[in-house]
Amino acid sequence: MNRLIFKISLLFALTAVVLFHPTLIRSTPSGDPAGISARQAADFVHGVIEAGRTTYSQAIVDRLAKSHSLKTTENWKQKNTLPLPAQFLMMSSRLSNQRGIGMRYRLMSLWPINPKNSPPSQTEKGGLQQVAQNPGQPFTWVVQKNGTWFYEAIYPDIAVAESCVSCHNHHPNSPKTDFKIGDVMGGIVIDLPLGRRFIKKPSNQFLFPPEVVADYVHSILESNRAVYAKHVVERLENRGVLSASENWKQDNTLMLPAQFLMNTSRLIREKGLGLDFQLISLWPINMKNRPGNQFEQLGLETVEYHPIRPYTGRVKVGRKQFFQSIYADLAIAASCVECHNAHPKSPKRNFKLQDVMGGMVVTLPIH
Ligand code: HEC
Ligand code: HEC
Repeated sequence: MNRLIFKISLLFALTAVVLFHPTLIRSTPSGDPAGISARQAADFVHGVIEAGRTTYSQAIVDRLAKSHSLKTTENWKQKNTLPLPAQFLMMSSRLSNQRGIGMRYRLMSLWPINPKNSPPSQTEKGGLQQVAQNPGQPFTWVVQKNGTWFYEAIYPDIAVAESCVSCHNHHPNSPKTDFKIGDVMGGIVIDLPLGRRFIKKPSNQFLFPPEVVADYVHSILESNRAVYAKHVVERLENRGVLSASENWKQDNTLMLPAQFLMNTSRLIREKGLGLDFQLISLWPINMKNRPGNQFEQLGLETVEYHPIRPYTGRVKVGRKQFFQSIYADLAIAASCVECHNAHPKSPKRNFKLQDVMGGMVVTLPIH
């Protein structure tokens, strides 16, 4: 009897050791051998932000300035104009940051027009100085903020167009008036949370679970599309300035929100990071957007009934491994339903508000 009690106690003790011993608990975010390194995760996040910024600057701002003399101004809310690229990025980052997924990003500068965009701490100031001197690569380090550790990366924001330079140099609130094309004008600061209990290591080898990195990518894309749909398409349509149409290139109109995403995804693919995303559906207007394989078919069928969490999996292409997440794409606005139900090529005509209309597939390379 005593031996039995002894055995049971031993079992409990061993279980307790296994459960609560710090080295035996798999700590997040590190530990997964197929994780994504912090640097690579930051590169993905930055790649998506930059592709969205380029889509907006080139395919919306520059194109409509030429075709319609449509202006881009700071006080766009009161005028029939477009938000500035910086304002577009900041609205999108606010939306994404508010989702509470942990990852945060924002635009900053050592010479800000808006003082709110100056670095909040000495570390960020130092980082911005570093990327201004050495724009070839991002500046990264590990910092603690309010008790939580973050992997922070700063990527340079470069004057890619004459309009960047001329507007900033002539702006009454700009502290710097001699920007030239190619200069670093500021930086995109990305914070990836490492957690509370993390102890600073010199190796900087932090691994993020691929599903978490896919959530980051998805959050930025969703935010970009929401800002574009609400503050560009809906606003300019309501004001009778311009409307959105499928053949935007020929018609000289605004592109559809889905096309904004697809344009961003093309730019991302061209960067060669191995990162990719697509909008697909079981009822596609464009046959190119139907599921491409069994995994996508199953994923779309699953998120139709379980729309809260993405459908995930790993695939091997040759010797390369990829992680994929499929997120439900919901009919969040009446316009989604109206346009798809009425479209001559749509195979489904009874979409309702909040229905799952398709899915966004995020693909990440893993090792
Ligand atoms: C028509 C004027 C205009 C153009 C064009 C423009 N900007 Fe700005 N930019 C602004 C204004 C105004 C702000 C401040 C927005 C705010 O209130 O936060 C700003 C903000 C910024 C910031 C954040 C720091 C700051 O100055 O407040 C950066 C970095 C920046 N712009 C870079 C660029 C780059 C790069 C381009 C070209 C791709 C560009 N800007 C194009 C007017 C412009
Ligand atoms: C004005 C018409 C219009 C509106 C509004 C619209 N879409 Fe679409 N959508 C399209 C067209 C056209 C395509 C095909 C684009 C292409 O050629 O790839 C498309 C593509 C898609 C796809 C990819 C599958 C397919 O049908 O080809 C999804 C998913 C999708 N839209 C969801 C949405 C959601 C969600 C909304 C609202 C947030 C929305 N759409 C708003 C017209 C529209």
